Amino acid sequence: MEDGQWHVQKRSSFRNDSFVREYGAVPETGCLSIIVLGASGDLAKKKTFPALFHLYRQGFLRQDEVHIFGYARTKISDEDLRSRIRGYLVDEKNASEQAESLSEFLQLIKYVSGSYDSEEGFHRLDKAISEHEISKRSSKGSSRRLFYLALPPSVYPSVCKMIRTCCMNKSDLGGWTRIVVEKPFGKDLESAEQLSSQIGELFDESQIYRIDHYLGKELVQNMLVLRFANRLFLPLWNRDNIDNVQIVFREDFGTEGRGGYFDEYGIIRDIIQNHLLQVLCLVAMEKPISLKPEHIRDEKVKVLQSVLPIKDEEVVLGQYEGYKDDPTVPDDSNTPTFATMVLRIHNERWEGVPFIIKAGKAINSRKAEIRVQFKDVPGDIFKCQKQGRNEFVIRLQPSEAMYMKLTVKQPGLEMSTVQSELDLSYRQRYQGVSIPEAYERLILDTIRGDQQHFVRRDELKVAWEIFTPLLHRIDKGEMKPIPYKPGSRGPTEADELLAKAGYLQTHGYIWIPPTL
Ligand code: BG6
Repeated sequence: MEDGQWHVQKRSSFRNDSFVREYGAVPETGCLSIIVLGASGDLAKKKTFPALFHLYRQGFLRQDEVHIFGYARTKISDEDLRSRIRGYLVDEKNASEQAESLSEFLQLIKYVSGSYDSEEGFHRLDKAISEHEISKRSSKGSSRRLFYLALPPSVYPSVCKMIRTCCMNKSDLGGWTRIVVEKPFGKDLESAEQLSSQIGELFDESQIYRIDHYLGKELVQNMLVLRFANRLFLPLWNRDNIDNVQIVFREDFGTEGRGGYFDEYGIIRDIIQNHLLQVLCLVAMEKPISLKPEHIRDEKVKVLQSVLPIKDEEVVLGQYEGYKDDPTVPDDSNTPTFATMVLRIHNERWEGVPFIIKAGKAINSRKAEIRVQFKDVPGDIFKCQKQGRNEFVIRLQPSEAMYMKLTVKQPGLEMSTVQSELDLSYRQRYQGVSIPEAYERLILDTIRGDQQHFVRRDELKVAWEIFTPLLHRIDKGEMKPIPYKPGSRGPTEADELLAKAGYLQTHGYIWIPPTL
């Protein structure tokens, strides 16, 4: 099938067209300029440009509408930028099949060099964008400008000011200007609020898209559907039935090459305060009154507001041995690379149910999952046979899956019980369906004006309120990480905390992702 035909088919099957009609996001056509600031950096090369290319291949970015501009300080040509990113866009396996669309896509990219704090470069950028808009005006007059800040947050205020001063969309063409920013949004409540006010003076909240890429993951996006479209879960999802919830992030590699950045932030700011807390919101929130982004985000904020202050005795910090060997990490670093903590939500649904949050670098496996453990069966007649508890596990990555751990009769003549599972493994159930990259969906949402999967300013503020006291105690050295061996489970104290919080491990059972 030719690329063009494929584009049309994919476009029409995408759910957002009906979302746009029903929930009022503005359906937009016309000239679209996507400006990637920090175009020669790692994030742009590894995530932003590949996501744009995938969107292009699927027909979501139309050749007759879109133009992509890279902006950075390095003085290079259009062709230099294209050859720098080319290798990140296709892997060898698909190189020949995608060669044509790759070269079309690369031709859509122009490069402008300039500094992040002087008007001169941004005026040149504006001129380049305007030329493109004028050249397209004959077809459909509209100026849509999407600025993607693939930059360190320290330059956000000056870059936003430059965009505001020099690069706003031309109102006579109609359309919009939107800004996409990446975490970390500040280091604590005060710095985050300061950053928010600086950007807030320049752009309306409706123009600011704070990306948390976990919100773009397939199984995270599935949470609302799962919880609110299944009668089965409605009566179960509460303190009467659920004993504890774990939200876990594990990586089996350290901070390789990012030690300098990581040491400034640590695992709580890097993973827990944003990615895992966002997941917690979706697990714990009440049903929104509709699917409108504001209704969903209102409910998320309410959950965050109900989180009680974290107790020191419900926190275990760790730092892997060898972390400080990185020359960019200070020898006396107190930065945690591992943390387990209990969050408690003070509301009618969750009072007394611990939400155990765990994140670690350089531990024994790579995975992210939500594990909901149900209470013991009351009046259990099988108890002499050592029952495991029911667990509902949502495996975010790798091997996306949902499985429900059940006790069943061991097949055979004997009446004995065994732990088994109902398993929805995506690779097996949805063969041939490729799961989009988080960045791909989120960029598409920004183009469509759907802020559902982006972090609102008040949400960010409460998220910082939860963690700031703990973070300040760590920064002052009042709480210390426990050393752990790379490749281990992390400090044993974390498992002890887990058990104390009420998690009961089922021994002798392991879920094995099905192979095809
Ligand atoms: C980033 C963190 O936000 O998320 C990294 O800064 C982490 O430290 C990464 O490795 C994990 O993302 P994913 O999608 O690979 O789970």
